[in-house]
Amino acid sequence: MLDFSFFTDPAILSLISASAVLLLAQLYTSSVLSRQPLPKMKAWVVVKNGEPSEALALKDIGDVNTTSLPQPKGADILIRVSHAALNPADLMFMRYIPTWVPFRRHATPAIDFAGEIVSLGPQAAAAPAHAAEPLTVGARVAGCLSVGLVATGHGALVEYLTVPAELVARQPKAFGDSSAKAGPPSVGVLGCAGQTAHLAATDPCAEAAFSSAEPRILINGASGAVGSLLIQISKARGAYVAAVCSGKNSEFVRRLGADEVIDYTKHDSLPAYLASEAAYSGANAFDLIFDCVGDQHLFLRSPAYLTPQGALLCIVGGGPMAPFTSARNRLIPSFLGGTPRTYKLLALTPSGAQARAVAKWVGDSESGLIHEMPIDSEYAMTDVKEAYEKQASKRARGKIIIKVQEEKAN
Ligand SMILES: NC(=O)c1ccc[n+]([C@@H]2O[C@H](COP(=O)([O-])OP(=O)(O)OC[C@H]3O[C@@H](n4cnc5c(N)ncnc54)[C@H](OP(=O)(O)O)[C@@H]3O)[C@@H](O)[C@H]2O)c1
Repeated sequence: MLDFSFFTDPAILSLISASAVLLLAQLYTSSVLSRQPLPKMKAWVVVKNGEPSEALALKDIGDVNTTSLPQPKGADILIRVSHAALNPADLMFMRYIPTWVPFRRHATPAIDFAGEIVSLGPQAAAAPAHAAEPLTVGARVAGCLSVGLVATGHGALVEYLTVPAELVARQPKAFGDSSAKAGPPSVGVLGCAGQTAHLAATDPCAEAAFSSAEPRILINGASGAVGSLLIQISKARGAYVAAVCSGKNSEFVRRLGADEVIDYTKHDSLPAYLASEAAYSGANAFDLIFDCVGDQHLFLRSPAYLTPQGALLCIVGGGPMAPFTSARNRLIPSFLGGTPRTYKLLALTPSGAQARAVAKWVGDSESGLIHEMPIDSEYAMTDVKEAYEKQASKRARGKIIIKVQEEKAN
């Protein structure tokens, strides 16, 4: 005879019913979770070399919850990226660094970022670079990724980004209203454009020009991201600024402070035009030229419109012949056919120190050397291909930025 009294024991019965409830709860939860997957972290990746329309794909690269987010180590910080900014250099990486290189598989583009710190590595709060104001969770920061991070594909078009604490600056609060309307301008000014403008404006040749009484400065490519910052810095340092841009950007560069606008589209050759005008020779010659376009003839013809002590600082060195051109401009003496003026090709090595130095220059039109980061346009994270097409057109007026995700309200 079978004994079922074991199953009628009240203690055993309650144990069995509790287990059944737990089992049902677990089945329900797992079925709900499988129907509602965790939100995925989105990032743009370079899937093949070429132009943005074919090179880029938007991918899900992991779950967004606190346990699956990368935990920063050492002095690294994890940033919830709100905005990224595009740069001409991104297109070069996309086109020419092969995607079969192991560390470039699934490389994310873009070097400028802005966002909020969500976690700190154990040594990040004590990072010497931020000794005056240690970084904390919630701090809003921005910067430009180092060459090493970019080369290994750790770009900024991603929702969460890990970077060394040293690499960032706090976002300045002091911009005027006009730029604040189009997204946080910090993403451009503390990024590649701002750091390059800082590099150029603090070059010893520029410092020498700024130290003279009302220096005359020519800025070629004045309506671009770097040029629009150089106008403001040059004006704030007491210069007379002649800005070269197309006619449609004339009002724009004047608003930033240009005293004179030269519409390059009206002349077959800008250098020939400058050389032919008495307004730019003798006592009216320029003390400094910032070339943000990379026009070799602007240097070759420069003795006609650049003072003998003057210099041309060029930031565009693309192309396989660039090292030879630069060497020719710097090294060949005039008796061997060289151009008797100082030439420098500047190349930015992005750094947190440079970002923090730029941040100190940001202020209102009275106190700052930079009072606006002009924003050409802001695109949604889904529209990055269109944004890069605009960048490739070389027609941007200031910075093109991407809204990666909504900023959290503080
Ligand atoms: N050396 C470095 O480390 C470094 C760092 C940053 C940038 N760069 C380089 O510096 C250059 C400028 O950078 P960016 O970010 O300022 O570029 P950008 O914002 O893309 O420049 C676009 C601007 O260039 C103007 N432009 C185009 N062709 C021109 C011409 N022939 N003459 C005068 N203006 C012209 C356009 O004005 P219009 O529509 O009026 O023509 C437009 O407003 C790029 O080539 C970039 O690769 C170098």
